[in-house]
Amino acid sequence: MVRVGIIGMGIRGRLYGRAVLQNPDAQLIGFAEINPKSLRDAEEFFGIKGTQDYRELLDKDIDAVIIATPDFAHTEPALAAIERGFHLMVEKPLAMNVEEAEKIVESAEKKGIKAQVAFENRWNAPFVMVRESINSGEFGDIYGMRITLNDSIYVPTQMISWASRSSPGWFLMSHCVDMALWLTKKRVKSVDARGIKNLLKKKGIDTYDMIDASLRFEDGSIAHIFSSWILPESIPYVAQFKFEIYGEKGYSNIDFTNSVITNASEKYYFAGMPTLWADIHNRLTGAPIWMLDSFIDAIENNKPIIATLEDGLETTRIVAGIHRSIEEEKEVRIY
Ligand SMILES: NC(=O)c1ccc[n+]([C@@H]2O[C@H](COP(=O)([O-])OP(=O)(O)OC[C@H]3O[C@@H](n4cnc5c(N)ncnc54)[C@H](O)[C@@H]3O)[C@@H](O)[C@H]2O)c1
Repeated sequence: MVRVGIIGMGIRGRLYGRAVLQNPDAQLIGFAEINPKSLRDAEEFFGIKGTQDYRELLDKDIDAVIIATPDFAHTEPALAAIERGFHLMVEKPLAMNVEEAEKIVESAEKKGIKAQVAFENRWNAPFVMVRESINSGEFGDIYGMRITLNDSIYVPTQMISWASRSSPGWFLMSHCVDMALWLTKKRVKSVDARGIKNLLKKKGIDTYDMIDASLRFEDGSIAHIFSSWILPESIPYVAQFKFEIYGEKGYSNIDFTNSVITNASEKYYFAGMPTLWADIHNRLTGAPIWMLDSFIDAIENNKPIIATLEDGLETTRIVAGIHRSIEEEKEVRIY
């Protein structure tokens, strides 16, 4: 039985709490949530007393910690959990700079813990299937990828309160970069990116509206990633994800915009993306749930970790490079 504590009981933390409850090999021991109202809500929902101070949670009798704090607040609790020798699942991006990500990787290596980064698309069925096609040689060598992952402006203005301390690069592109690396097993040599700050800044959220990045791999192949955080709210979904793969012998197109439910009644609106996760007859299913199950399985049955801290560090290197390239207005080397 893996005894789990969760730090950060926002959208993701609460989802993981529910996933832990339905996993027969895991037990939810407690959680930490800095915001008093969110703490009360979580206590009421789970019927467990939590704490505002994550250090109190780490004093409990637990085996594993899940970190679901905002992008900028992963490192400190991650290092504290590692220090105590707890197994760890950290939300993406692992950290928002390379030094912090390296420190997490090094500390975890010393302690010999099981640690996973929540790159949930590694459990997202279309990506898993396309990866098998790539591995089987169906498309030949992969020469290019064209990836778009956008959010409705609802996300940085209403869904999360900390958008000014993140960006479409950290919040969205970290998924795209991880998928590009996981699907192709290639290494990025350099990045060249551009970004614009205008609309969100006018609304008092000082971050990029959109980022456009070109990645060059060591073998000469290329990827293009575009992420906007300002799609109008009239768009009938929160996230829009399209992923094209151009190979020597074939092409693959994964398009999640067709897998959402859009209802038209009094208005036309987004009613869910059941391919991401869904509650089916009181049982949660989908990528984030299978990812949590995989983490528990790795601890309980000594199985390999599917999205490692090193993978998280690699993505942090590239997303940090994207931001550096925007600021310096030039192509920057990763290796
Ligand atoms: N893997 C994915 O597909 C995916 C999807 C969405 C979000 N995320 C990531 O998950 C993380 C959390 O996102 P979210 O949407 O749940 O955000 P959120 O704002 O809903 O939740 C974060 C919570 O952490 C709490 N918090 C902040 N600092 C804390 C601290 N020191 N101790 C305890 N609690 C603290 C906040 O009060 C908040 O309730 C982010 O890094 C985000 O990028 C990942």
